[in-house]
Amino acid sequence: MALERTLSIIKPDAVAKNVIGEIYSRFEKAGLRIVAAKMKHLSREEAEGFYAVHRERPFFGALVEFMSSGPVMIQALEGEGAIARNRDLMGATNPKEAAAGTIRADFAESIDANAVHGSDGAETAAQEIAYFFADDEICAR
Ligand code: PPS
Repeated sequence: MALERTLSIIKPDAVAKNVIGEIYSRFEKAGLRIVAAKMKHLSREEAEGFYAVHRERPFFGALVEFMSSGPVMIQALEGEGAIARNRDLMGATNPKEAAAGTIRADFAESIDANAVHGSDGAETAAQEIAYFFADDEICAR
């Protein structure tokens, strides 16, 4: 499997629940290394820009509102097959459908407030990492 990077966001609901450390522990136990991280309260414009691909979807306004409602923890994760591995850890978008033991099953309340974001492919991962981190903010081994 190839060494990959992916963008992860711990969303406002999970930050408010004080489970950043528990989620980081899951990344580490799964062999994912945090190579960049920042805590940030996104502006509405930053959230709109990040989710621009979804702007025509009916939930876009609610998603932007939620993502700018409180601080988020943003990290680039590195590891073998990091993109799929992180998606496996996260579980299904709707926590009611998320497999037991996944982050969303354990920490998310609803599809609107679903604890974590993770890039869904290699191209998206590169774009999303660059959206939040300059090259010199990523600490490669
Ligand atoms: S995904 O995770 O990209 O495959 O899921 P998708 O269904 O395409 O959803 C894209 C993002 O929109 C969020 N979402 C919603 N937010 C609010 N309300 C509703 N109903 C809703 N449905 C989906 C979903 O959590 C995805 O956000 P991210 O941050 O990418 O996980």
